[in-house]
Amino acid sequence: MRRKLVAGNWKMHGSLAENEALLAGVLAGMADVKAGVAVCVPYPYLAQVQSRLTGSAVAWGAQNLSQHAKGAFTGEVSASMLKDFGCAYVIVGHSERRALYGESDAVVADKFAAVQAAGLTPILCVGETLEEREGGTTEAVVARQLDAVIAQSGVASLAKAVLAYEPVWAIGTGKTASPEQAQAVHAFIRGKIRALDAGVAEGLVIQYGGSVKGSNAVELFSQADIDGGLIGGASLNAEDFLAICRAA
Ligand code: 13P
Repeated sequence: MRRKLVAGNWKMHGSLAENEALLAGVLAGMADVKAGVAVCVPYPYLAQVQSRLTGSAVAWGAQNLSQHAKGAFTGEVSASMLKDFGCAYVIVGHSERRALYGESDAVVADKFAAVQAAGLTPILCVGETLEEREGGTTEAVVARQLDAVIAQSGVASLAKAVLAYEPVWAIGTGKTASPEQAQAVHAFIRGKIRALDAGVAEGLVIQYGGSVKGSNAVELFSQADIDGGLIGGASLNAEDFLAICRAA
């Protein structure tokens, strides 16, 4: 049995005071959570979560990084810097990075490799737009996004990674993929990897992301190939986030 993992993606939200209240609320409700739990926070708050969460059952991580190790890259943050702040996870290839910041499959593959080179675990996001889904290219898009990483880092690299299937049309829209729609893509992903390495495929945690709430989490997480979630909006409220963690 794969252990489920629920990760909050705070995106560009929070303040020192808000985070303090949110973290306290989450920690207070962790006793009956069996799944792995993490929060991925904006860079400036990594020190805060490190000091608040060290020794707790909640891990933390970042939402992005530079693919470069160091150098003249004003405004960028490297994997080793994230490691300094105790990050376990780094999200790479989130659809907002791909769409708003022009991150190509090749850049995402470089970032994935940079996270692993520092000994951290990438959470690799893949997913199709509404146009791609309606055009019948969901599997082709997800396969292309995965292939870029596999071509660069090899299928064995997925043994130390987490995948997140996030259909772009379900992110922040309140329109969740149905459990059947999500399961179909998760099964496709696992099947594709199984064809390359069955052991890696069976152990791989594949999260679903896109308008997950306490009310839909149980049904989503009970699907055979859905191993938890990557949670945006609902991770900003301790009770909402805990309800999802308990569902996992
Ligand atoms: P929402 O849960 O707000 O739809 O966001 C999902 C997401 O993008 C997590 O990375």
